[in-house]
Amino acid sequence: LEKTLILNWKHHWVEDWELYIPLLRDFPWIQISPPIPMLGLLAIKGNPEQLIASYMSCDPLGPFTGACGPDYLKNLQVSSVLLGHSEQQAQTYSEPMAQKIRCAQDSGFKVVLCVGESQLENYKEELSMQIQPILSKPNTKLAIAYEPKWAIGTGKACSPEHCLQALRFLKSQIPLGSQIRFYYGGSVNCQNAQSFLRLKELSGLLIGSLSLRRDNVKQLIQIINGLKTEGVAKKALSF
Ligand code: PGA
Repeated sequence: LEKTLILNWKHHWVEDWELYIPLLRDFPWIQISPPIPMLGLLAIKGNPEQLIASYMSCDPLGPFTGACGPDYLKNLQVSSVLLGHSEQQAQTYSEPMAQKIRCAQDSGFKVVLCVGESQLENYKEELSMQIQPILSKPNTKLAIAYEPKWAIGTGKACSPEHCLQALRFLKSQIPLGSQIRFYYGGSVNCQNAQSFLRLKELSGLLIGSLSLRRDNVKQLIQIINGLKTEGVAKKALSF
């Protein structure tokens, strides 16, 4: 089983961003999803295939001031896009998600689709609705980040048991023949990370506030390396 870390910098200007570049170089299984202006900086410094755009518009080609479309991202050689994060739903759902996923994939990007319920007890209903856009045919260039809304930025991570239930539910819904990787995100910290990483159903973690400090990221790297030694996580690749 491979384990990957996705660092979601959200809207933060990370002062020591240049010092994350050696981390990308040394650990090919780490990916960063920075704010769009920082994406350009990081891409130019190297390892763009380990960068995930946190936003992509799918307007047809044209003079759309302020848009950040597939061509822009392709020129930066970024490999993936993060779609549907709950902190930007108002934005992303203005373009139907199915269309957006198709646009990203047709342009050659891997997609990390974020899903997650706002209320624990309604998780099945909410997740079923959110994965509608990927139900029409098997998909092989997709990862799903399961991020319960109530766990994002609240300090209240989901229990590994609930995470597993949600992952099993998602797996039971997606079309046969799909090859989808799953991530967990929402208040991951250095104490609870292990219990998620031990779930064989998970390919890795999507970390928000924890990713803003390199010492935390280094601790997570040590945890993952420890699990690799145990044989829980072998050398990981990005999906
Ligand atoms: P958090 O954010 O780790 O700060 O809860 C996770 C995310 O928004 O992806």
